[in-house]
Amino acid sequence: MAATTPAPLPADLEHGLRRLKLASIRRVAPEILVTAKTQRWMPEELLRALVEAEITARDASNARLRTKLASFPTVKTIEQFNLRASSIPPQTWSYLTSLEWIAAKENLTLIGPAGTGKSHALIALGHAAVETGLRVRYFTAAELVENLYRGLADNSVGKLIEQVLRNDLIICDEVGFAPLDPTGSQLLFRFVAAAYERRSLAIASHWPFEEWGRFLPEHSTAVSLLDRLLHHNNVVATDGESYRMREARTRSGGRPSKH
Ligand SMILES: Nc1ncnc2c1ncn2[C@@H]1O[C@H](COP(=O)(O)OP(=O)(O)O)[C@@H](O)[C@H]1O
Ligand SMILES: [Mg+2]
Repeated sequence: MAATTPAPLPADLEHGLRRLKLASIRRVAPEILVTAKTQRWMPEELLRALVEAEITARDASNARLRTKLASFPTVKTIEQFNLRASSIPPQTWSYLTSLEWIAAKENLTLIGPAGTGKSHALIALGHAAVETGLRVRYFTAAELVENLYRGLADNSVGKLIEQVLRNDLIICDEVGFAPLDPTGSQLLFRFVAAAYERRSLAIASHWPFEEWGRFLPEHSTAVSLLDRLLHHNNVVATDGESYRMREARTRSGGRPSKH
């Protein structure tokens, strides 16, 4: 049976839907109206179909926007995470992927050597959070501190921190990659203190906590920062061999690859 092209909407409806910014209803209405007539829908059924079309499209577009605002450096998902290749205990992973810790404003700290899936886990959890409607922002520690540094000139650090804390989950990756100067570590401390018990922070570092003095120059700042961070914190150690190295070896048939 050849599909007949549904008649366009009357101009006044078309105009009204445009004014109300109901773009999805405007798009699907001609076809839904045909179905509703031929199948003799109840009026509520028609209204429901139109409302659902608009809601579905808006949810999808909001999720796309939240994904963009999250600024993930790459796409990594929970499905792509091979738990058996990771040292994260299945029970811990199951709690983390439930995202309940975000609702409870708990923190997450992943500590482990390079290539053990810290960034993958952070991004995958962030991505899952975005999909459930949460607002997420990914930074490397260097980016976060650089961002806050900009507020020093015009005294807007507090405002910048509040802006970042509009997110439900703030990811701070690569903590300790580069040492921070005293101002940088003060800024990081201010941020962690402001987030304390209000928002979830998810952090990754290749330094165990007792080594954080290496990149946080002032002992008292390091102690105060860790004090806030570690309260209500899920600490997860990722260890073992680098996943990158392992993959490279698999590709080269068991021998370490040259690149
Ligand atoms: N358990 C895992 N399952 C699937 N891929 C993994 C796993 N662990 C690491 N990877 C992959 O290995 C690479 C390095 O992991 P990454 O998360 O960047 O490590 P880290 O941040 O700890 O240095 C990435 O491409 C990542 O997707
Ligand atoms: Mg990483």
